[in-house]
Amino acid sequence: MYNVKQLTPSLYWIGGNDRRLALFENVYPIPQGVSYNAYLSLGSETVLFDTVDHAVSGVFFENIAHLLDGRKLDYIIVNHMEPDHCATLAETVLRYPEAKIVCNAKTVPMIKQFFDFDIDSRAVIVKEGDTLEIGGHTYAFVMAPMVHWPEVMVTFDATDGILFSADAFGTFGAVSGSIMASDIDFAGKYLDEARRYYTNIVGKYGVQVMAVLKKAATLDIKMICPLHGWVLTGDVIGWFIDKYTTWASYQPEEKGVLIAYGSIYGGTENAAEILAGMLADRGIYNIAMYDVSATHPSYLVSEAFKYSHLIFASSTYNSGIFTPMETLLVDLKAHAMQNRTIGLVQNGSWAPMSGKLMQELVGSFKNSTLLQPVATLRSTVSDKTREELSALADAVKASM
Ligand code: FEO
Repeated sequence: MYNVKQLTPSLYWIGGNDRRLALFENVYPIPQGVSYNAYLSLGSETVLFDTVDHAVSGVFFENIAHLLDGRKLDYIIVNHMEPDHCATLAETVLRYPEAKIVCNAKTVPMIKQFFDFDIDSRAVIVKEGDTLEIGGHTYAFVMAPMVHWPEVMVTFDATDGILFSADAFGTFGAVSGSIMASDIDFAGKYLDEARRYYTNIVGKYGVQVMAVLKKAATLDIKMICPLHGWVLTGDVIGWFIDKYTTWASYQPEEKGVLIAYGSIYGGTENAAEILAGMLADRGIYNIAMYDVSATHPSYLVSEAFKYSHLIFASSTYNSGIFTPMETLLVDLKAHAMQNRTIGLVQNGSWAPMSGKLMQELVGSFKNSTLLQPVATLRSTVSDKTREELSALADAVKASM
């Protein structure tokens, strides 16, 4: 049965929620689920904005049929070709063969890679700055390469001030009831999942996100319709754009310390606990502490984007970095982590190597400072280790 939400007199949300999927992109845990958003405009001509993942195709097609109520679908605007949004494109074309597909030149080969239907005869190719008059609305097209794939564009309905933002301004989390962020405590309930979504999905492409934010600043945006999560209106728009600007420019959201530790038998964990206590003794209370073996890296990437100071404490393992810690640091490097103050703690029962190797990895973080000393323990914390941890805590305090 259909389940649509009316957003304006002519625009409807026609997406769906998935609370069964364990791993988004087969990588990221989504304990609160995810929504796949698509939108349908019922002007004098009908326009579908993107499609949805296979998981919610049933309700999606019921929604379209219900709203069209026998009318034809005139246009499909494809803002993004990742399968969580385009998986049902071919079936949509099969059901509504008269629909023209509005996309850019980079989208066409991707459509051909995924599908066999004839795109060339129905494609309306747009480029940066182009506008189309459809159904009483003026749609402007803004290219947004690498936010999150190279073909991504966003569409601005200049008539109603609505930005169809593709993955940008999306959030993990299935929508429960209202699709409007303004109806719920969006900032209180979903900031962490919004950050985890942004940092892991597009965190690597801060430069490209900043370029789109700059273009968006020239638009009179009254509503943002992203492909995941909630529809944004009112004050939430400015709040979210501020967050995006912070994340995309790799500035920390908060002065505080993330301590991530990788410990095999508890020695490194003990060192991390002692260091956290020493930081608190120095008046630093904004501390988030995680066992890298017990926490999915996507949460730690998100936390690393949040905090100004990052402490990594790791055992040595097979002459290298303890594997879950190595995964985290490689992930942070891949996400272009930068502008941070970093401290290291290494453990090695006979040949501590993790400090040197972690130093090499965090050395790739631009504009970052490595605090001294790198504290060392051999199996367990010794008096000498305590002295080094104390000196490291002093260095953190001095750098705040
Ligand atoms: Fe939600 Fe890049 O797809």
